[in-house]
Amino acid sequence: MILVSGGTGFVGSAVVAELLRRDQQVAVLGRDEARIRRRYGNRVEARAADVRQPSTLPAAMTGIDIVINAVQLPNSPIESKRRGWTFEQVDYEGTRHQVDAAKAAGVRRFLYVSGVGAAPDAARHWFRFKWQAEEHLRASGIEWVVVRPSWAFGPGDHALNRLLGFGRFLPFIPMFGDGQQALQPIFVDDLARIIADAALKPEAANRVFEAGGPETMTMDEVLKTGLDVMGKKRPILHQPVFVGKALGTLMSLLPSPPLPPPPLSADAVDFITWPAVADKTDLERVLQPRLTPVRQALETYLGRK
Ligand SMILES: NC(=O)c1ccc[n+]([C@@H]2O[C@H](COP(=O)([O-])OP(=O)(O)OC[C@H]3O[C@@H](n4cnc5c(N)ncnc54)[C@H](OP(=O)(O)O)[C@@H]3O)[C@@H](O)[C@H]2O)c1
Repeated sequence: MILVSGGTGFVGSAVVAELLRRDQQVAVLGRDEARIRRRYGNRVEARAADVRQPSTLPAAMTGIDIVINAVQLPNSPIESKRRGWTFEQVDYEGTRHQVDAAKAAGVRRFLYVSGVGAAPDAARHWFRFKWQAEEHLRASGIEWVVVRPSWAFGPGDHALNRLLGFGRFLPFIPMFGDGQQALQPIFVDDLARIIADAALKPEAANRVFEAGGPETMTMDEVLKTGLDVMGKKRPILHQPVFVGKALGTLMSLLPSPPLPPPPLSADAVDFITWPAVADKTDLERVLQPRLTPVRQALETYLGRK
């Protein structure tokens, strides 16, 4: 049985779909059993747990052979310290708790979905916490695999869809920064196949796979391709990063809860303007993935409306 933690999320649900296509037995870990049931019915086992609370994890790990951890803090990349939705608590500590519980339960292999940019000395804390989570896994003694995706996109993503969505009701697309950061967008179905292969293939054990799409493009090029596929002509209106950060800092000062989490933070502006290019050497050598060109992938779900 394979446990997909975060199997109700964007990447996790694509992984669950891929594993079910391969006739694997799948369990899904999330905070709310009813949400898992609504999404999957009886096609998966629902394992309700909160990765920030170690006491909830032993039951979730029972009878599991492989864990795939695709948990992400809600409303990422906008952290909420008051809710405990931070990279430290969910990404790092949540992974640490799961690795420890998996080890105690006799799990054979643990795959962590990290991110391109994870490094001990990275300039941003989210990359450092991902690195620390990876390090805990590598030192655990369990057979490990790390997949570090670049920017993933697809029908349910929270970033590209939101940006292109502005084009449906605004005469322009607002974008912080100059739009020149290099990205290697990867279609979520391709990423799901890579993660499933990396979880199942013996030769993937104890390796790090950076995963990116077939093209390296700037953010502007990705947005223009998306607009073109949608049949919309919209200029991209670039705003200076400092304006976004000032706005984000102001929004972070709002009382929350009881208000909903803010739509922007200073860190989120860095997150969206950061380059993400993968070193695909090991990915191509060991897993030889099929990678869909960005336009072709967008055409499968971005209709002309
Ligand atoms: N999306 C990308 O472009 C991208 C790129 C590179 C790396 N990644 C990595 O891929 C992973 C998944 O990202 P995503 O975009 O798929 O995230 P997502 O759509 O926000 O999904 C997050 C998942 O985490 C679960 N979750 C949140 N807090 C939890 C908690 N405390 N305990 C248990 N489950 C919890 C959510 O389930 P419930 O709400 O049902 O509890 C949900 O299934 C992350 O590690 C992310 O850094 C993503």
